[in-house]
Amino acid sequence: MAFYVTTPIYYVNAAPHLGHAYSTIGADILARHMRQRGEDVFFLTGTDEHGEPVAQAAEREGVTPRDLADRNAARFQDLMPRINASNDFFIRTSDPRHVARVQEVMQRVHDNGHVYKGLYEGWYCPRCADFKSEAEQGPDHTCLIHRIALTREEEENYFFQLSAFQERLEQLHETDFVQPSTRANEAKAFIGQWLQDISLTRGKITWGVTVPWDDSHVFYVWFDALLNYYTALSYARPGEDVTDTFWGAPTHHLIGKDILKFHTIYWPALLMAAGIDLPRQVFVHGFLLGHDNRKMSKSDGNVLDPFEVMEKFGTDALRFYLMRDVAFGEDGAVSMAAVERRYESELANDLGNLASRTISMIGRYRDGVVPDAEPEDFSVTQAFDEQMASFAIYDALETAWTLVRRLNRYVEEQAPWALAKDPDKAPELDRALATLAHNLREVADLLQPFMPAKMDVLLEALAKDRLEKIEPLFPKLATA
Ligand code: ME8
Ligand code: MG
Repeated sequence: MAFYVTTPIYYVNAAPHLGHAYSTIGADILARHMRQRGEDVFFLTGTDEHGEPVAQAAEREGVTPRDLADRNAARFQDLMPRINASNDFFIRTSDPRHVARVQEVMQRVHDNGHVYKGLYEGWYCPRCADFKSEAEQGPDHTCLIHRIALTREEEENYFFQLSAFQERLEQLHETDFVQPSTRANEAKAFIGQWLQDISLTRGKITWGVTVPWDDSHVFYVWFDALLNYYTALSYARPGEDVTDTFWGAPTHHLIGKDILKFHTIYWPALLMAAGIDLPRQVFVHGFLLGHDNRKMSKSDGNVLDPFEVMEKFGTDALRFYLMRDVAFGEDGAVSMAAVERRYESELANDLGNLASRTISMIGRYRDGVVPDAEPEDFSVTQAFDEQMASFAIYDALETAWTLVRRLNRYVEEQAPWALAKDPDKAPELDRALATLAHNLREVADLLQPFMPAKMDVLLEALAKDRLEKIEPLFPKLATA
């Protein structure tokens, strides 16, 4: 079956940081897991390059928006292999193929009668690229997220008739369209009151997708951005349009909680207006916080740098840590000290030792050949798969870890070194070693989407006819 998973596309107003790596790694783990289960997967990520967030940052730096976009998009593109993301395509919204497709869909929305000209008056945050209702404002018309003054906007532009979709959105939000359920309630709260029509275009800026029926306007950046999930499929595979395959597949958008309103209200409404099927689900994860439990910010010095973590502990350790320390869906604090603790106790000790002990005992007692005995089965795969299917990545990882811990206990219970001293106990020793090899292979399979490089090494080692010693998977670090 086909499966389509996306990350948000990231603003190119600055360089990538841990939050971007987090969403991408989460989506990558799901994509790899589904591929491993034999699904036909398309995994999309990319950059959001238009609108004020980028235009204003470029102005501050004295470069053109396009130059800033090119420079920072390259940094996001470089991030992907660095975190071992297996994305099938990287979309850039400045790509003319995306632009043309946006115009085509928007023209349809227009022709379907969901666009009208009006006067917009209200408060706007240029960093969010968002029009803020009273309820969304801080004191004195400030942005609650960026803590900057909102600008008073008064301009003639085209409106999208969001209010026409009130009922259909209410129905949609009676389903499990948004997960987890706490976020579903937040989404519902947006349609609690009567929905207002929203600005569809901007007449004041030029860095955007030109409105096909009025070239003095560009589309409001959020509509251009959201459409990436749809447009990419028409050209991401050279010479092929895979829209029918993957837009028709269960489509899952993975996002952070900051962009909930756009993905759970505006996006489905826009698709309804264009006559396009809706995605299957929006999964909303929480925020990574600094070690002081506050939003990470350079000026607070509480930022965890993903590149530093990867340099010290490796890419797989970063991937593991982010899914292990913070429940996917909730907020959670991260820090270098916590990375170090998890690395030592769980990767080097629990998993690394289990792997090296298993391989070396089979070497020592059976000349590297896994005994042909019926293994005891501690399988957790069914529970793991169910959790992964509902994006409960954190729970799934804990499930895999119960097997790691079970096997370490099993080694102590069986004490193969004692069994080996007694020739009468040979069948027991065979069974113990076969059990370890069999279940360790399962561990490596389950963890492969989380730590692809290390688990490939382990799986290869376990696939040999005669097992050979391997280098420690997670070497202990000389602590400074
Ligand atoms: O909002 N913790 O782009 P953006 C967890 N271009 N995730 C975080 C995070 C944190 N501290 N900080 C950022 C935009 N993220 C738009 C999206 S989509 C059609 C357009 C992640 O560069 C999280 O996924 O501000 C969040 O939703 C996203 O980065 C915002 O990235
Ligand atoms: Mg942002």
